Amino acid sequence: MCGIIGIIGAAPAVPKLVEGLKRLEYRGYDSAGIATLVTGRIERRRAEGKIVNLQAALDADPLRGITGIGHTRWATHGRPSEANAHPHANSMVAVVHNGIIENFQELKRALAAEGHAFESDTDTEVIVHLVTRYLNRGMAPSQAAARAIAELEGAFALAMIFAGHPELVIGARRGSPLAVGYGDGEMFLGSDALALAPLTQRICYLEDGDVVELTRDGATIRDKFGAVAARPIRETAAIGDAIGKGNFAHYMLKEIYEQPTVIGDTLASFINPATRAVALPDLPFDFADLPRLQMLACGTSWHAALIARYWFESLAHLPVDVDIGSEFRYRAPQLAKGGAALAISQSGETADTLAALRLARELDQATMAIVNVAESTMAREADGTLLTHAGPEVGVASTKAFTTQLTVLACLAIAAARARGTVDGEREAALSAAITEVPARAAEVLDHDSRLKGLAQEVANARHVLFLGRGTGYPVALEGALKLKEITYVPAEGFAAGEMKHGPIALIDEDIPIIVVAPYDALFDKTASNMQEVIARGGRVIFLSDAKGIERLGDLAAATVELPAVDPFVAPILYTIPVQLLAYHAAVIRGTDVDQPRNLAKSVTVE
Ligand code: F6R
Repeated sequence: MCGIIGIIGAAPAVPKLVEGLKRLEYRGYDSAGIATLVTGRIERRRAEGKIVNLQAALDADPLRGITGIGHTRWATHGRPSEANAHPHANSMVAVVHNGIIENFQELKRALAAEGHAFESDTDTEVIVHLVTRYLNRGMAPSQAAARAIAELEGAFALAMIFAGHPELVIGARRGSPLAVGYGDGEMFLGSDALALAPLTQRICYLEDGDVVELTRDGATIRDKFGAVAARPIRETAAIGDAIGKGNFAHYMLKEIYEQPTVIGDTLASFINPATRAVALPDLPFDFADLPRLQMLACGTSWHAALIARYWFESLAHLPVDVDIGSEFRYRAPQLAKGGAALAISQSGETADTLAALRLARELDQATMAIVNVAESTMAREADGTLLTHAGPEVGVASTKAFTTQLTVLACLAIAAARARGTVDGEREAALSAAITEVPARAAEVLDHDSRLKGLAQEVANARHVLFLGRGTGYPVALEGALKLKEITYVPAEGFAAGEMKHGPIALIDEDIPIIVVAPYDALFDKTASNMQEVIARGGRVIFLSDAKGIERLGDLAAATVELPAVDPFVAPILYTIPVQLLAYHAAVIRGTDVDQPRNLAKSVTVE
């Protein structure tokens, strides 16, 4: 994680660096810092905590210079503190870094033995000393940087400036993303296009192993073999305005409310408006004879994969495995000959999912990615990509990315069922109609916002919260629990309702709210029995169901929320919205930082 930015500007760099860092703050907010060249000398300001703290430090002690680098940190090595904040620097070189240097201990020992004194607990500081070692041997900055980079192991994106070289920024990428922005007499480096959006729309993405030398007039990129490489310069969409909060108090609430629109936008690219049938671009495999599908994801995106497994199995009779990226990559997965791997990721950069996707490719699987960022590494590396059209998701807790992932996966499951001949035309039309209706039904679910806000009080004050569901309601329960714990810090767990009696039912008492996800579907009666078992033991149930479900069991629950009656196929998309809103309102009541909860970052580009 961490966000980095670099500028060789035509005007004071600091305001642009700060603006870029604000746009990168979703990648981490443990500390932030900036270094510039002031009459050839390296000067820096750093602050623990969010960028507002850095801004205050800059207001108190302004920094001049037109060339500089900046960083917002998600701590890996060394606690969040000013001493551990980037840029790390001495009088010769300043460095910002996203990623992990795995051999930093060995390098640090060797450098310390040569007399280099370390000031921080970070892995990054070894880069400063390593570059300095080679500068001291008389190498030019680009040579010294290349030599130092060659000795680093791990995953990283870097930017460096050098004392006495006001027209030079060096960047490097191995594993973590890095983009070059082309301005008019100005050049930029940034972790992503969002950071560079207000500065330029002309961007090129570095490939793994690239080292770039920026001067005022352009960029020289060398590939991992040291050969000069051409990387395509693309015009990116103007995404500058899309990231405001509008009239909403938080990004998360805005993004929850955007769901009817962005689900509609996503459907627009996968449903033919004339026939109302699913129409996908060419896929890198044929569902008709696919022996097995391996899905790979982390966190909320993993929950989307869990839901999709039910769809692929029941509609398309397709064998499916679902793995968490960090587990898959260190197992010895036995994949089907001729099979396919599907990575699901909002950012398209999550290190564990990316590594899992690469492993699947090494194991001869056709690869596909469902991502929200078209230029992301997964989108570029997979054999095929399907885009969610969620727009930038800024709140750290994923909301609209999840429901748009489900939208794409639902379309994919329909296409798979058609290709495998496991649904007839009538059922396919009903499934397509059900998914097409989701934006309208999602808007109806949002009408329950004030009811959910009222119920959030009990959730906010609870010492523990349980979410229960069956079938596709089970991953919704997992997602509800994840949303709640990540933004309220209230311990919460999601369970398959049928598992309660195998242990977790011991937790039940009258102080633990239990949110039951129970659309009136084929499993309703089973869920109902499990709900009665917890009520019999004093559990207080918040019951999420539709009119039929509430008519059957609403009287038993402490509270009910009536959701629209829909084809059970699309219920998990709609039942996610109330659990998002419950978590959101509970967080507001508890006064936590909704959009930037503690210890987290939006894009997890470290293992
Ligand atoms: C939770 C959340 C995370 C992400 C996970 C994967 O609200 O946002 O669990 O889902 O870090 O991120 P992506 O989807 O970018 O791969």
